[in-house]
Amino acid sequence: MTAGAGALPTGGRTVLGPHRRPRRLRGTPAFRRMVAETRLAPEDLVLPAFVHEGDSPRDISSMPGVQQHTVEGLVELALHCRDAGVAGIMLFGVPDHKDAEGSGATDPDGILNRATRAVRDAVGDDLLVMTDLCLDEFTDHGHCGVLDADGRVDNDASLERYAEMAVAQARAGAHVVGPSGMMDGQVVVIREALDDAGFTDVVVMAYTAKYASAFYGPFREAVASSLSGDRRTYQQDPANARESLVELALDEAEGADLVMVKPALAYLDVVASLRAATDLPVVAYQVSGEYSMIEAAAANGWIDRRAAVLEALLSIRRAGADVVLTYHALEAAGWLREQR
Ligand code: PBG
Repeated sequence: MTAGAGALPTGGRTVLGPHRRPRRLRGTPAFRRMVAETRLAPEDLVLPAFVHEGDSPRDISSMPGVQQHTVEGLVELALHCRDAGVAGIMLFGVPDHKDAEGSGATDPDGILNRATRAVRDAVGDDLLVMTDLCLDEFTDHGHCGVLDADGRVDNDASLERYAEMAVAQARAGAHVVGPSGMMDGQVVVIREALDDAGFTDVVVMAYTAKYASAFYGPFREAVASSLSGDRRTYQQDPANARESLVELALDEAEGADLVMVKPALAYLDVVASLRAATDLPVVAYQVSGEYSMIEAAAANGWIDRRAAVLEALLSIRRAGADVVLTYHALEAAGWLREQR
């Protein structure tokens, strides 16, 4: 034992004094559980999922374990999410036909709207059905909006398409629409369109701070995007943090119900600053590249997959996110139930 009652061998001195030993509260799992500041539960998680028009599922090679589902497969996946206690499923459509206007986005029989209807019919109100509200999956040029005569993304013309798209998604049964195009004014235009069509209860989950990120790489394969060029005229510069507070003020004033930061892990400072600046729930999207990095390292035996997945999700919660969108949602929910 050390000299003196409770004294450390350093002569009883730490910065905090002789009696402070933070390790006491780390000594057993029971102590660690009791003092955990952050908890992760299935109901904090939302699963993003892809649906295509083919009649068999298609693997996404850059996202091992993730597929483009058939409508039937997607319904089954949604039921698994419901049973696992996951909060919701965020749907992305991969249409066969793409054109300049992204007409499949507003077609009630377009793949995303068709799939939304099927999922909502199956899950009712037991799982939140969320839809990506953006044109990039549906346009042949791959941009998130429509283009003007000079080939630039036309903000206000895109808003008209978003308004139509929001109503089509609400009609299909979406509980939550997630505008991800980063057009100025998108939240208020969508809110008004929903209200005018009688969908006052449909929730707008705004992509408030969405950065022009290299971590979306695998997603482009997932939705067969044909984007040439980049999205830097509408998505935020990774150099900027304060700009997210400007976006937050606008989205709050425009009527957003939920505000999102995307990507997650490289932007935890932004998650924390939004958490401090708003009383709305904050959502963070752990994007495709974040998923694939963990999968690739784990496949090489370089990291413990399960531990790394749960640590990343917990850290996103610790930074201030109430809800996390993650491609690991279903599997993580299973692990979290096991741990209880
Ligand atoms: C746009 C959208 C993107 C993602 C979600 N919504 C792609 C982009 O902005 O380039 C990326 C999600 C991911 O990488 O997991 N509809």
